[in-house]
Amino acid sequence: MRIAMVYASADGSTAEIADRIAERLREHGHDASARPVRSVLTVGDVDAVVLGSAVHGRQWLDDATAFVNTNRQALHQRPLWTFSVGMPDALPRPFRKMARTEETGIIDQLGDLQPCGHQLFSGVVKPSQFPLASRVFLRLAGGRYGDFRDWPAIDRWAAAIADHFNLS
Ligand SMILES: Cc1cc2nc3c(=O)[nH]c(=O)nc-3n(C[C@H](O)[C@H](O)[C@H](O)COP(=O)(O)O)c2cc1C
Repeated sequence: MRIAMVYASADGSTAEIADRIAERLREHGHDASARPVRSVLTVGDVDAVVLGSAVHGRQWLDDATAFVNTNRQALHQRPLWTFSVGMPDALPRPFRKMARTEETGIIDQLGDLQPCGHQLFSGVVKPSQFPLASRVFLRLAGGRYGDFRDWPAIDRWAAAIADHFNLS
């Protein structure tokens, strides 16, 4: 199957997750390569789409939202998987729960599109990404910095997408 793996990333961690998913899909026999959403004007001649975005301010990056709105019809016509990359695992438990609720809002923004699957991953959280006020807030809230990507979970999600086609 030809699978378009399209992503929006501000600081690179979503890009690396997208590369990893594309690599795993290729290992399962699919034709997939990850491309930044800015370089992809149309969905094109593919059998399925995997679309992911970093989360800023509880929303997908503008590029990803614009891609959804421009390609809504094409996305309706083929299986779609979506993922978000945020920072739930960088936060203490009560805030983590709140971070996960933002997924509901993000899925709502997809409107009438119904992904076959949607996943929230934690990404990389570095002090240099944030303005001073956010760094102070994060410190007071007990947030942590680091690379929170769960590669085995990412691999399992990619394998589930591959299996969707290999088993059907
Ligand atoms: C300005 C800014 C705002 C952010 N807002 C959120 C947010 O609302 N929710 C969340 O879960 N993560 C938030 N994050 C964390 C990022 O989503 C996380 O660092 C992610 O790994 C970024 O992906 P990227 O490296 O592909 O840009 C924010 C990060 C930045 C820099």
